Amino acid sequence: MKQKAILAFSGGLDTSVVVKYLQVEHNMDVITVTVDVGQEDDYQQISKKAKKLGVVKHYNIDAKKEFVTDYIFPSIKANGLYQKKYCLATALARPLIAQKVLQIAKKEKVTALAHGCSGKGNDQVRFDLTMRAGSNLPIIAPIRDLNLDRTTELKFAKKHGIKIDSVAKKFSIDQNLWGRAIEGGVLENPINEPPDDAFIWIKTKNLPNKPAYMKIKFEKGIPVAIDGKSMGPVKLIEYANKKAGSHGVGIVDHIEDRVVGIKSREVYETPAALCLIEAHSDLEKMVHTKHQTKFKSLVDDEWSWLTYSGLWEDPLRKDLDMFIQQTQKAVSGTVVLKLFKGSIRVVGRESKNSLYSHKIATYGKGSKFDQKLAKGFVELWGIQSTEANKLHKKS
Ligand code: ARG
Repeated sequence: MKQKAILAFSGGLDTSVVVKYLQVEHNMDVITVTVDVGQEDDYQQISKKAKKLGVVKHYNIDAKKEFVTDYIFPSIKANGLYQKKYCLATALARPLIAQKVLQIAKKEKVTALAHGCSGKGNDQVRFDLTMRAGSNLPIIAPIRDLNLDRTTELKFAKKHGIKIDSVAKKFSIDQNLWGRAIEGGVLENPINEPPDDAFIWIKTKNLPNKPAYMKIKFEKGIPVAIDGKSMGPVKLIEYANKKAGSHGVGIVDHIEDRVVGIKSREVYETPAALCLIEAHSDLEKMVHTKHQTKFKSLVDDEWSWLTYSGLWEDPLRKDLDMFIQQTQKAVSGTVVLKLFKGSIRVVGRESKNSLYSHKIATYGKGSKFDQKLAKGFVELWGIQSTEANKLHKKS
């Protein structure tokens, strides 16, 4: 019987080459899967492309809602940012896509799993390790295994009659509901400012002269309403992206350390992520003790690092999720952001679980805070530092 491979298919050059390669060089039947995580592609067109390549079956799966509830929401709870900057958009989507591929792999009784990732990026790590967590089938990754570059791929495509959109793209894009990563072209020189046309979600010119406010309501760490409107998970993210983007908010430009050791210059459009994480972490500080805040930020960092590094399926990520979940019980309330010409600022917050006490904090009359007690406290608090400094002075 003919061997059967399953492949996460985007319709681009890499995955198209992989389909043909599996058919021609491995003599395999190929099943393709396109998972919609909000990349706004033409899914009918992709399905047509797959059929034209001669796949035996093509699946299109709308996973937007699951992406938000099971990946983006946990990431908001973890204030998920890699190296303090990157909202993990691609990193969160890959394990979900791999899961979907695995589900169909079981149903279709395939004999191999395949992906179109190169050996230079993070996605190979995320695909391989998520697939490994759920299956023993061999993983075929031709772009990586054959060390293919774009020119060789184009040659291969031509030889096998694969039609590739002739418009040379200025940038390489990976997009989903949580963000849009823009790489390549002029951006490969880190000193070059990203040109305006790199951005499609975020307005960069003629920004409104009046600030706008975004009022975000959280329940147990999850955003449930914006500007007084309750919204389902997907709608809510779309709304935040659109509103913040229209005020120029959401561009991230930084140097990132990839899992395989490469330093890369990464540019992102992530308006919703920036707003929601900024608001969420502010609210946490209002409802958590200083001990919780300090410790959770270590956990958040570790959680983000694991997610970035393709270790979504590692038991530690799930352990940390249990801890994070426990901390979110108190994280209900509302945060107000001010958006103005590309900047965001928290300008107000309230919560029924607030640990802020006006009676304690006020500089006005009648504070419950007894300043006289502070004298002794400060003395004991600094006892070792003071002794050490005395000693250093002597020597
Ligand atoms: N640097 C980001 C990450 O590794 C985004 C990469 C987007 N590009 C891509 N080809 N998937 O998650």
